[in-house]
Amino acid sequence: MDARHGIGGSLKGLDLRAEIDRLRKERNAVILGHYYQKPEIQDLSDFVGDSLELSRKAAETDADVIAFCGVRFMAEVAKILSPEKIVILPDMEAGCSLEDSCPPAQFKAFREAHPDHIALSYINCSAEVKALSNIIVTSSSAEKILSQIPKEQKIIFGPDKHLGGYLKRKLGRDMLLWPGVCIVHESFSETELLKLKAQYPGAPVAAHPECPPYIVDHADYVGSTSGILTFAKTMPGETLIVATEPHIIHQMEKAVPEKRFIGAPGADGNCNCNICPYMALNTMEKLYVALRDLTPRIAMNETLRLAARKPLDRMLEMASATVGQGDVGAR
Ligand code: 13P
Ligand code: SF4
Repeated sequence: MDARHGIGGSLKGLDLRAEIDRLRKERNAVILGHYYQKPEIQDLSDFVGDSLELSRKAAETDADVIAFCGVRFMAEVAKILSPEKIVILPDMEAGCSLEDSCPPAQFKAFREAHPDHIALSYINCSAEVKALSNIIVTSSSAEKILSQIPKEQKIIFGPDKHLGGYLKRKLGRDMLLWPGVCIVHESFSETELLKLKAQYPGAPVAAHPECPPYIVDHADYVGSTSGILTFAKTMPGETLIVATEPHIIHQMEKAVPEKRFIGAPGADGNCNCNICPYMALNTMEKLYVALRDLTPRIAMNETLRLAARKPLDRMLEMASATVGQGDVGAR
């Protein structure tokens, strides 16, 4: 039951999967899903991917409607890149703590205080912050993009201080970091991770670079969701400890069912704090209603869209350039 969407009992008895499939055809819609979505949503998505792959798909699709099963900044990117399309998000409240940690007015003031710096911004930010940035990066493109920026260029990196800190350490770049965090990756516990490593001796750890350094420092592989998925498929061992949002394990279990994947625990060892509460707002019911009513819909002022598009286009160009590394990659 969801009062905000007026869903209630009206969907009783509906075969939601069949109805979503029917509406997808009727609307000429493409359903894009992030790896942190519930398994049933991943399974019905036309494409499941990380932030960079989803941006590329959104830019190239010829569908009339993009149903974005992810969070709001991802759906905004789809609208920025494909303005002629209707972009729907099953729940408009699906935000992101990184976006919340970087209010545009404060970011603007920070930029103005450092006029000799360019701003490299993680895609997990609002369209307004994108519009105030020079280049956007994702976790799978950040290292490659940074390697194309001259060493002497001063850089502000926001809003994720952990991804920024990881890049600083790995590439030896001195960047000014905005102090934002992802509440999900911030919740992993070093003590619990060490207990798990002792329980599964020899099992590698794969971590997302949004994790704090005390988690990343124990990882054998650090990368985006798609990088972690590739590592899970190609690593030689039987067991992998996964330090990112645990819904990605669904794809690992589908791809390599003979291997064992164990989610790294949160603070007290058995909380659900490593499940993204924003991603979890999307449900089959809300996706059905969104496709039926073509709402909630992303709308954006054209001046803002054009300003936010520039740094996104830079990202897409630089991420496709034939230099350097792809993902933030192996440590
Ligand atoms: P990627 O899928 O690009 O690694 O991003 C992870 C994330 O936190 C998305 O919100
Ligand atoms: Fe934002 Fe973290 Fe959720 Fe990704 S996992 S959407 S970064 S809060």
